[in-house]
Amino acid sequence: MSNHELTTPDQIAVWERLMDLPEYQRTTPEPLLVARVLPPAARMAKALDIGCGWGRHMPWLAAMGWRVTGLDWSQAAVKHARVVLEAAGQPGAVIKGDYHRLPFRDGEFQLVVANDVLHHGRLADFKRALLEIKRVIRIGGQAIISLPSTRNMPQPFVGLWVEENTVVLDTGVEAGLPHHFFNEEELRRAAHTFRDVSIEAIVEPLPPGAKPLHAEHVNEWLWIILTG
Ligand SMILES: C[S@@+](CC[C@H](N)C(=O)[O-])C[C@H]1O[C@@H](n2cnc3c(N)ncnc32)[C@H](O)[C@@H]1O
Repeated sequence: MSNHELTTPDQIAVWERLMDLPEYQRTTPEPLLVARVLPPAARMAKALDIGCGWGRHMPWLAAMGWRVTGLDWSQAAVKHARVVLEAAGQPGAVIKGDYHRLPFRDGEFQLVVANDVLHHGRLADFKRALLEIKRVIRIGGQAIISLPSTRNMPQPFVGLWVEENTVVLDTGVEAGLPHHFFNEEELRRAAHTFRDVSIEAIVEPLPPGAKPLHAEHVNEWLWIILTG
């Protein structure tokens, strides 16, 4: 364990570089998210996409009838998500911001999605994000979040372990970024203020060309649905 400082500017600088890589310029919505999001029950209901990245989920949400807002702390992501929305001819807003302090009113959103985002930090950062999500979500609204499980962790000697199950990678394109790997029990504890919590563990094939990180490595993701 170490007290290695994870500074915000350092992390943002990594994300700005990653946005130049084709594998981060994803265009097709994540099928496991598509399977979980329903159209809005009421006209003009608002959806927030936290860590929207290149913006692949925003046109799809808008086409379903959601009034969509994307948020990302990378300027490159914000810029491209705006282009993606405009190219699709869909309305929506994209804002530069940090998931630790969501710049929105209490109860503003009926739906919050965060795909492949909220594990970038320590456990305390995730807990902070959940407090913010709970605050901005309406009563009865839903948050749909995907996170890597502890079965997806690299070996202990890879990277810099800053706390239990949190590693700052020191090799590969995501070097310098923190990754926390979750288990169901800590998730349930962290989400205890929500009215309902559902967690599903889903093992996905490794991306094309990727190899398992070690003998027990499984590309398992936890899909969490929280009711505000
Ligand atoms: C792996 S990408 C996922 C992008 C998108 N959700 C998708 O599924 O294509 C993670 C995104 O989260 C953003 N991100 C990471 N930490 C963040 C934070 N603290 N606040 C806002 N955005 C953050 C990054 O800039 C990046 O665009």
